[in-house]
Amino acid sequence: MSTLIKNGRIITATDDYVADVFIEGETISAIGKNLNVNASTVIDAAGLLVMPGGIDPHVHLAMPFMGTFSSDDYETGTRAALYGGTTTIIDFVLQTQGKSLQHALDDWNSRAKGTAVGDYSFHIAVTDFNEDTKKEIKHFIEEEGITSFKTFMAYKGALMIDDRQMVGLMQEVKKQGGMVTVHATNGDMIDFLVAKHKSEGKTAPLYHYLSQPEITEAEASSRFADMIHYTGCPGYIVHLTCEGALNAVRNATRRNQHLFVETCIQYLVLDASLYENDFEGAKWVMSPPLREKKDQTTLWAGINQGLVNVVATDHCPFMWEQKLMGKDDFSKIPNGHPAIENRMELLFSEGVNKGKISLNKYVEVASTNAAKIFGMFPRKGTIAVGSDADIVLFDPNEKHTLSASKHHMNVDYSGYEGWELTGKVKSVLLRGTVAIDDNKCLVDKGYGQFVKRKGPNSKA
Ligand code: URP
Ligand code: ZN
Ligand code: ZN
Repeated sequence: MSTLIKNGRIITATDDYVADVFIEGETISAIGKNLNVNASTVIDAAGLLVMPGGIDPHVHLAMPFMGTFSSDDYETGTRAALYGGTTTIIDFVLQTQGKSLQHALDDWNSRAKGTAVGDYSFHIAVTDFNEDTKKEIKHFIEEEGITSFKTFMAYKGALMIDDRQMVGLMQEVKKQGGMVTVHATNGDMIDFLVAKHKSEGKTAPLYHYLSQPEITEAEASSRFADMIHYTGCPGYIVHLTCEGALNAVRNATRRNQHLFVETCIQYLVLDASLYENDFEGAKWVMSPPLREKKDQTTLWAGINQGLVNVVATDHCPFMWEQKLMGKDDFSKIPNGHPAIENRMELLFSEGVNKGKISLNKYVEVASTNAAKIFGMFPRKGTIAVGSDADIVLFDPNEKHTLSASKHHMNVDYSGYEGWELTGKVKSVLLRGTVAIDDNKCLVDKGYGQFVKRKGPNSKA
């Protein structure tokens, strides 16, 4: 099977040129002007951007969480991702406290294998670091191709580890060649504020936001950066949202640390005023919460300064009925919001189209950096000879409107209902096969493959 994509404008993290791309089997075999090849399929991409498939390294599919499960499973979630131009996702396997990492991996494999439509990989969240867990780290890195170990500094009693466990994990992960990633907010401070607000009868979604002020994230980000510095382990902060936390990272860069930063699309384009609409605000109850306009400015600047390396989603959807679990108590609203399908188009429309980031930067933060940081480059994250033919054909001028009535995510509302965007995914190839074309998905459940990863590339 071979495909020729003709006359598209190829955009990578560094390049911008018009050429043809020739694909044989699952990989790119030639790139050049007017390629003289025989292809079984020819796609005319004149007027379209030809970009590497998006990589979303922060999603939660069918995740058991806060007494329920996130509503997209591997089939609906990875299919929706493909519709939105994301060809590879990385999900989080959650260790159950008192059980092994392997036990959790078996559980996640049973949900993902044979179900995923798009490609996927796993981080493993270490929620109980002890002598037994420590022994499993080497196996995960060397045999399973799972090289990133997620930690939570919040969600006390369920997922949170203390600093002693954190430092122990960092030392072992560094020794074995992996990376520690973190949800960096101060769990004890948050617990205190949640209890205080509830004792005062303050139960609306607004109090979710007021229970996680900026300082809770700035403090934990700074502490994590210090522990990463002390242990020498590469680190990655997930879903960083605010100026205070980014300033902690800015300080850390003075020490020449291996500390990477991810923000998520919602923190760039939405703000905390959404919590003022009574229970409607539950749609955006996530942790950390949405922040202020000044934080959006900081995050866009951080992207251009190279301090924010990745724009992900933290896609963790819940049906409205599930959100209603917290109708009388904000602390029972399942945390998370849907965006896996919207990330690439939102980032283009709000970022590139509005002049906040360049096209090359767009590809860098939506795809290439995640591939590098998480050990998938150059197989994923670029358009180059030998790379997987994961390619998005994108019309930069087409206008469209986001709506739950049109999206493919398994959730009955949109966090972006009625938003008018410029720039639309037209076709998506995944490992050489046309997966999305003309608003139809052409690959089946089970087409998605698990991607084994190498250790982090500290030069990302
Ligand atoms: O609200 C969120 N972020 N839900 C998913 C779990 C997490 O903290 O990433
Ligand atoms: Zn988190
Ligand atoms: Zn998350």
